[in-house]
Order: sequence, then structure tokens, then C-alpha cells
Amino acid sequence: MVRQIGGWAFVLIGLAAGLGFGLAGCRSAPALTQQEAAGKHLYQVRCAHCHEDNDLALKTVPPDLHGVFDRKTLPSGIPATDAAVRLNILTGRGMMPGFAGRFTEEQMAALLAYLHTGLR
Ligand code: HEC
Repeated sequence: MVRQIGGWAFVLIGLAAGLGFGLAGCRSAPALTQQEAAGKHLYQVRCAHCHEDNDLALKTVPPDLHGVFDRKTLPSGIPATDAAVRLNILTGRGMMPGFAGRFTEEQMAALLAYLHTGLR
């Protein structure tokens, strides 16, 4: 009888711990929405090779875009707004090429949504 109760206690502790971890995990990194996930894919394919790997060894090292919207200004000093980032992506800047005509409106929105997550 005692052993049986002990077994149940283990099950309950296990459940509580699992639930706790699950919730903690959720709070630190909520799952990306479908739109953010689409943006993440675009970012990884079109932006990350420069902005994370600088694979072209550009002299102006592409800035880290993690948390780009957490700061008031972009690395260039202009206000960090959707409009400014969108324009930067479309027209390029310095050694960054412009992506005009490369993204549909939907893709651009997804990319911005993902940049707003801080790049999770
Ligand atoms: C060929 C490499 C390259 C690619 C690809 C690239 N970038 Fe950049 N990016 C740069 C460089 C270099 C800079 C710094 C430009 C400067 O200030 O002279 C930059 C700057 C930026 C900035 C900061 C603008 C500012 O005002 O400070 C943002 C935002 C940005 N890139 C977003 C993106 C996004 C989003 C993508 C993918 C769609 C992308 N970049 C693709 C090289 C790249």
C-alpha cells in the first residue's frame, strides 16, 4: 500500500515537473507564428549568410540583426522603424544589395515580422 502511494507521488511529481518545464519553455520562447516562421526562412536564405557569416568577407561587416527593433535606431543611426527597414531592404545600403522586386508584399511582411521577434 505504501509502495503504491509512493509510485503515485512519483507520477504526480513527474507531471508537475513536466508541466513546469513546458510552461517555462513557452514563456522564454513562444513558438513562432506561421508568418514569423516564413520570415525566418527568408532571413536564413537571403540575409543570414551576410549578417551572420559575412561569407563575402565584406569590409563593412554586416551588422548583427538580433534585436534590431529593440533599439531606437538602426546601426546607421536612422530610427528603427518598419518603413526604414523595408526601404533599406528594397534599396540596399553601402555594400548591402537592394532586394527590390525580390520579395512579394507578403514575404516582406513576413520578414519584418520575423525581425520583430528579435530573430528567434
Ligand atoms: C551581401 C551581404 C548582405 C545581404 C545579403 C544582406 N545584407 Fe543587410 N547589410 C549588409 C551590410 C554590409 C550592411 C551595412 C551597410 C552600411 O551601413 O554600410 C547591412 C545593413 C543592414 C541593415 C541596417 C541598416 C541601417 O540603417 O543601419 C539592415 C536592417 C539590414 N541590413 C537588413 C537586411 C535584411 C533583412 C537582409 C535580407 C533580406 C539583408 N540585410 C541582406 C549586407 C548584407
